[in-house]
Amino acid sequence: IGTGALVVFLAVTGIMAVSMCLNPPNGMNMAIKPENVEATAPFNSPGLKKIGPNEYRATIISYTFGYKPNTITVPKGATVHFQITSKDVVHGFMIPGTTTNLMLIPGHVAEYTQTFNEPGEFLFLCHEYCGIGHQAMYGRVIVK
Ligand code: CUA
Repeated sequence: IGTGALVVFLAVTGIMAVSMCLNPPNGMNMAIKPENVEATAPFNSPGLKKIGPNEYRATIISYTFGYKPNTITVPKGATVHFQITSKDVVHGFMIPGTTTNLMLIPGHVAEYTQTFNEPGEFLFLCHEYCGIGHQAMYGRVIVK
C-alpha cells in the first residue's frame, strides 16, 4: 500500500507539473533572460507608472543586494500592480502586514497586486537568503 501510494503521489505530481507547464507560482508566466533584464521591456525603465485613477504599476529589478528602485511613493488608497524580477540569484519581496509575499526567480517575472488603504511607510524586504548582504536588502513603499 505504501509503495502504491508513493507511485500515485509521484504520478499526480508529475502530471500536474507538466499540465501546468512547470511554471513557478505567483503568476510567473512571463519569461525573461536574467542577463538581459535591464535591456528588456518593461525592466529597461523600472519605476512607478500611473495606469489609472489611483492605480499604478511598479516595475522593480532585484539584485544582490538591493532593489531598483528601492523607494516608491503612492497616494493613500492606491492600488499597485507589482512586477518584479531578479537579475542574478533568487531573492524575495515581502511587505510585512500585507499579503504581498513573492519569490523572485531569475528568468521569471513575479506579479502581485496590493492596495494601500492606510498612510504610512511600508518596509519591503528580501526574505530569501541570497548571500552575505541579504539582511541589507530592503526598500520602502511610502503611502501619503
Ligand atoms: Cu536578496 Cu536575500
